[in-house]
Amino acid sequence: MCGIVGYIGDQNATPIILNGLKRLEYRGYDSAGIAVLQDGAIQIRRDAGKLSKLTTLVENSPIEGHLGIGHTRWATHGEPSARNAHPHMGDTNQVVVVHNGIVENFLELREDLTAEGVKFKSDTDTEVIVHLIERFLSGGTSLEEATRHTLKQLRGAHGVVVFSSNEPDKLIAARIGNAGGVVIGFGEGEMYVASDIPAILEHTRRMIFLDSHQMAVVTRDGVQVKTLDGQKVTPQEHNIGWDPVAAEKGEYRHFMQKEIHEQVRSLTDTLAGRVDFDEGTIRLPELNLTPDMAKSISRIVITACGTAAHAGMVGKVLIESIARVPVEVAIASEFRYSDPIVDQNTLVLAISQSGETADTLAAMDEGRKRGAKLWSIVNAIGSQAMRVADGYISMQTGPEIGVASTKAFTAPMVDLYMLAILLGEMRGVLSPEKRRKLVADLRLVPALVGRCLDREGEIEQVAREMKYIRNMLYLGRGINMPIAYEGALKLKEISYIHAEAYPAGEMKHGPIALVDRDMPVLAIVPHDPWYEKMISQIEQAKARGGNVIAVATEGDTRVEALADHVFWVPETPWLLSPVISVIPLQLFAYHIASLRGLDVDQPRNLAKSVTVE
Ligand code: AGP
Repeated sequence: MCGIVGYIGDQNATPIILNGLKRLEYRGYDSAGIAVLQDGAIQIRRDAGKLSKLTTLVENSPIEGHLGIGHTRWATHGEPSARNAHPHMGDTNQVVVVHNGIVENFLELREDLTAEGVKFKSDTDTEVIVHLIERFLSGGTSLEEATRHTLKQLRGAHGVVVFSSNEPDKLIAARIGNAGGVVIGFGEGEMYVASDIPAILEHTRRMIFLDSHQMAVVTRDGVQVKTLDGQKVTPQEHNIGWDPVAAEKGEYRHFMQKEIHEQVRSLTDTLAGRVDFDEGTIRLPELNLTPDMAKSISRIVITACGTAAHAGMVGKVLIESIARVPVEVAIASEFRYSDPIVDQNTLVLAISQSGETADTLAAMDEGRKRGAKLWSIVNAIGSQAMRVADGYISMQTGPEIGVASTKAFTAPMVDLYMLAILLGEMRGVLSPEKRRKLVADLRLVPALVGRCLDREGEIEQVAREMKYIRNMLYLGRGINMPIAYEGALKLKEISYIHAEAYPAGEMKHGPIALVDRDMPVLAIVPHDPWYEKMISQIEQAKARGGNVIAVATEGDTRVEALADHVFWVPETPWLLSPVISVIPLQLFAYHIASLRGLDVDQPRNLAKSVTVE
């Protein structure tokens, strides 16, 4: 949830850390701080509010040095304030820490430390960490050992970076559980630490990722990684191909708008290297899927949160329709506590843009404990959900910065479509002819998305007329029912308008009582097998005075005669129609929120990666 950046090397750490935090601001942003070792003493600058306040603070009271750490915070314990902002320093003024996660046993630790005379200066759980380290240091241990002993006392999930003025040649970084990643980047005579790739990508593409219960001693010349039990490990070094510029807004007002428009590119990228259009075949080598394994799968449980779960709901229809494997979609925060019926023939497939969502990772653990095979579809290279899985598919969309997920929603739907074809072929239920047709349809997708984006002006016009709405009902059926849920979530999370979604067939069982002139209805009615049913849904809403916006296939005069507004989409093979139907809904939500002057990329109360329960 929070952002962490650390540096050790010959350059001034301050600008490197502040720029790095800027690229992580989407992860959590109610306070921020930086600590740098300057002339042998630790200097700290920190404040509540956005990162820009910290930058001003540092401009007015500069600090510089060659060793430093910084942090952007999304508060869990203690309100957003300067005293609760990280970094936190202990009583000796020689040790400083930044932390991501929650110390679940912090009350008992705080009581013990207080009983020993420690005077706490903040309301945070994090502060117990630095006092525990100082307690061990006072016994004559090294910073590495003091940190190791401290981490063993903490319950919960953590990402921690520490340094001491007494050992100015190193940073200590550690990861326990799933509280966001710890990434270590290799420079020339300098090293970087961060909670996420974009923070350090402009400096290096060579990175390693700590696994849970691993601790790294980072010096200018490199890194030593050990388990918390002191066993030496050598994490795989990744070369991150992302383009640093890609993490910038370019000519767009918001990352979200840029990322909506990137979907032609990102969908092309998620297909890249995986589709042989001449042969009509799919290859997903990182899945490690064999025909025997494909045949052994009795059912698939797709588990995810939020937008990723909506992609999973589309995936259910795709896999059941193409590969004829039973699929259940289980919301991760429910699955992890549901005592699920899972065995060695169950495949648990997690979907996660960040690959660090605590509920999703916990659901994966639950599946693993019960004998399931684990796959994941992830965007963040090296993320936990990628590394713990038996096989994975990378979304390959590049960094998604906007909190509201867009390109990391359409990419996994295409990945699930490819997975369904591969499974169907390996299980012998997909004829070569059908397979070649399905693969050929994939080639159309980027251009079809481009045609939806070309209609942004029409959608913005409708958003301008409707920017003061206070409610919205989204209706869809079949493979496009999840798109109703996704459209409603997009509007909710960035415009704060109450929006809800229903399977359209459910309307007559109660929700239609909501429909009147003040309850706009958005009906998703492209040419798919549920088209006629959706037409009658629109008629029912109109009969009750409803104001209907329809997502409809270009040239559909029936819908045009019925609806008050139409978001046109091109004719699309129905199995791929969700990838197209969602585009106008992303743009609609974006423009309503933008017209309402809201912080589209950093909506209130939200963070990009929910690494706590
Ligand atoms: C989507 O717009 C939201 N930001 C949120 O629902 C998100 O999809 C969810 O938290 C899951 O995140 P993940 O894909 O990184 O696991």
